[in-house]
Amino acid sequence: MKARIAVVAGDGIGPEVIAEAIRVLRAIEHSHGHDFSLSEAPLGGIAIDLHGDPLPPATLDTCLRSDAVLLGAIGGPKWSAPQAKVRPEAGLLRLRKELGVYANLRPVSVHPDLHGASSLKPEVIDGVDLIFVRELTGGIYFGPKTRNAEQATDLCVYTVKEIERIVRVAAQIARGRRRRLLSIDKANVLETSRRWREVCERVVHAEFPDVHLEHMLVDSAAMHLIRRPRDFDVAVTENMFGDILTDEASMLSGSLGLLPSASLGEGTRGLYEPIHGSAPDIAGEGIANPYGAILSVALLLRHSLKLEEEARSIELAVHRAIGDGVRTLDIVSPTHRSASTQEAGDAVLSALG
Ligand code: IPM
Ligand code: MG
Repeated sequence: MKARIAVVAGDGIGPEVIAEAIRVLRAIEHSHGHDFSLSEAPLGGIAIDLHGDPLPPATLDTCLRSDAVLLGAIGGPKWSAPQAKVRPEAGLLRLRKELGVYANLRPVSVHPDLHGASSLKPEVIDGVDLIFVRELTGGIYFGPKTRNAEQATDLCVYTVKEIERIVRVAAQIARGRRRRLLSIDKANVLETSRRWREVCERVVHAEFPDVHLEHMLVDSAAMHLIRRPRDFDVAVTENMFGDILTDEASMLSGSLGLLPSASLGEGTRGLYEPIHGSAPDIAGEGIANPYGAILSVALLLRHSLKLEEEARSIELAVHRAIGDGVRTLDIVSPTHRSASTQEAGDAVLSALG
């Protein structure tokens, strides 16, 4: 198949993990006879340095003209002073909004060999397999903001339409799994959450009567997530709660560096990024974990290009690489030498065969 893919490596460890992800993408392209045309574009801090804009028009254009966007990470201390006029994050947020990718899927599972890498007990995390569906283009991230000498405000806004569409995506995913959907909110305090809960009830009962819906308050969800993570299957939540809870959930798998994500809207174009940040403290050292970026390639093949077999083979290859003990510093065990970013990429390539 022919496809156009925008590659937005970004800042910090972004370019390092994306380099490995691209090697894997190219290997799949050649082994399966596809024709992928890749276009690189700057986003975030590097785009501020080059063009004074974290999302230059040419980058947006490249992304809009692609079938999928593969993104590394953005941000870093260089651009993060509280007084900074433009921030790398603003580029990412605008890109998500412009692409209309309102549904952010963040699957979390635990590799049996990595039980020791998690800070939680093996018997707590064994068998965890859950997916967060995070609303990505609304809420407090995108509401009006103000800041003056006396005060600062961020407003959380959700329209009924925004809630309906994310609930539909999550309920559809639940239908393909255990037919259980957990909605996480703060309905005891927030109006947006009360509305979220109402809409959720209405949509699921009317359109997904076969899906069992439950609600949980976000503080309680944060607690249960590490107390009995196996009870979680599909969880849907608003933008900021999803941001926070998915960093927490990543620790079930052992490292933030392992988790991929897919951001989808209407149609098949999607944005794919590991959930980790730019990790400026280790950037340039060649020790970052590329597995989350490589697994994001698998999600890209699955969701935007509908290449399920290819996606599966990448996931199996990463599973095997970890099983063979090829582990970067963040997931290394006392009995293993830690692998470099490139060695981890090599291991996935050789597992792909
Ligand atoms: C994430 C990140 C971003 C977010 C930042 C970099 C803007 O934390 O993708 O989870 O908050 O959405
Ligand atoms: Mg985050």
